[in-house]
Amino acid sequence: MAGANDNIAPFGVYVHWPFCLSKCPYCDFNSHVRHGGIDEARFLRAYEAEIATTAARIGRRIVSSIFFGGGTPSLMQPSTTAAILETIGQYWSIAPDVEITLEANPTSVEAERFRGFRAAGVNRVSLGVQALDDASLKALGRTHSVKEALNAVAIARQSFERYSFDLIYARPGQTPDAWRSELRRAISEAAEHLSLYQLTIEPDTPFAALHGAGKLAVPDDDTARALYDLTLDVCAAAGLPAYEISNHARPGAECRHNLLYWRYGEYAGIGPGAHGRLIIDGERRATETEKRPESWLMRVEASGDGVTVDDALTREQQGDEFLLMGLRLVEGIDPTRYEAVSGRSIDLARVAMLAGDGFVELMPNGRLRVTLAGFPVLDAVVADLAA
Ligand SMILES: C[S@@+](CC[C@H](N)C(=O)[O-])C[C@H]1O[C@@H](n2cnc3c(N)ncnc32)[C@H](O)[C@@H]1O
Ligand code: SF4
Repeated sequence: MAGANDNIAPFGVYVHWPFCLSKCPYCDFNSHVRHGGIDEARFLRAYEAEIATTAARIGRRIVSSIFFGGGTPSLMQPSTTAAILETIGQYWSIAPDVEITLEANPTSVEAERFRGFRAAGVNRVSLGVQALDDASLKALGRTHSVKEALNAVAIARQSFERYSFDLIYARPGQTPDAWRSELRRAISEAAEHLSLYQLTIEPDTPFAALHGAGKLAVPDDDTARALYDLTLDVCAAAGLPAYEISNHARPGAECRHNLLYWRYGEYAGIGPGAHGRLIIDGERRATETEKRPESWLMRVEASGDGVTVDDALTREQQGDEFLLMGLRLVEGIDPTRYEAVSGRSIDLARVAMLAGDGFVELMPNGRLRVTLAGFPVLDAVVADLAA
């Protein structure tokens, strides 16, 4: 365990668990269904080996956050989670106030394991509630009901210091009035943090096929915009302002691990399809591992890790990534750090044009941020500034 006064840059560990009980028709995450089950002990050995290999490459670090994402990490045995955390602690120091988040699906089976995850060291849970309406849950292909989800939220509240949940909005047929009341109900259950995602039709998913065939109508742009605006208003009025384009928290309750990504910090990616950004010999490297779970397993068993991409990023690439991540945040970016990262300065003529349109603003503290009005066109704003 590291000392409380260690004052070094935050370092995060992302652990990807790629298995789900069923595949949701909108989802394009690296998630796989294995009806015959998996050899969890063998996978655990591979996670331990990949952590050891990564640590041997980068050396000592103080871990400020760990995030188990998926897939559905709540399908892991709590003893597997405990062993992974122990291995991380064996190779790196763990900050005394480390944040350890686990993504969970809100079914009763998984909620029963919450105490086990807490005992393993997890201190924050992120629940995939998705909707507080049974018909919508069914349409999203979810296997839980609203009752089951709220029961899981109640167990999370008793088991963890911190919890958050995800909802998907701009669903087929959803009206602003219906979303407003659903959101208010969510806030009354959510305590300190909510992730609110607009439904995205991802290519090559069953939803994309239905949408392409005209059988799945999502809200038009004006309605989607109205839904987004009311999301910001309702959350802010309830004391959970947006701190990122899709994330809302009581000030101080932000997800520190995700902040590390958006603030362009350093993190290791462990497990199938995990991405990392590692600083080795002063170089910032982008890493990716094999996505298919069994192929990843065999690679790790053969060579100690499942890494398939390991590229040094040019300063220009780093500058683009820095903007792409940092401009998602309400706190925006520090132009001086952008210069240090990219070797370029922000184009003030472009900033002035975008500010004139109300999409960005230079704040009195010198930071540059995208305004709430600019968030719906964030991609275009980033492309303009990075050009
Ligand atoms: C990778 S999932 C992991 C959580 C967990 N497996 C679950 O589904 O509850 C993370 C979150 O991404 C969001 N998500 C996934 N696909 C999405 C899509 N096409 N549009 C909007 N949000 C999506 C969901 O809210 C989900 O909770
Ligand atoms: S949304 Fe969650 S449960 Fe559904 S397939 Fe994706 S990762 Fe799995």
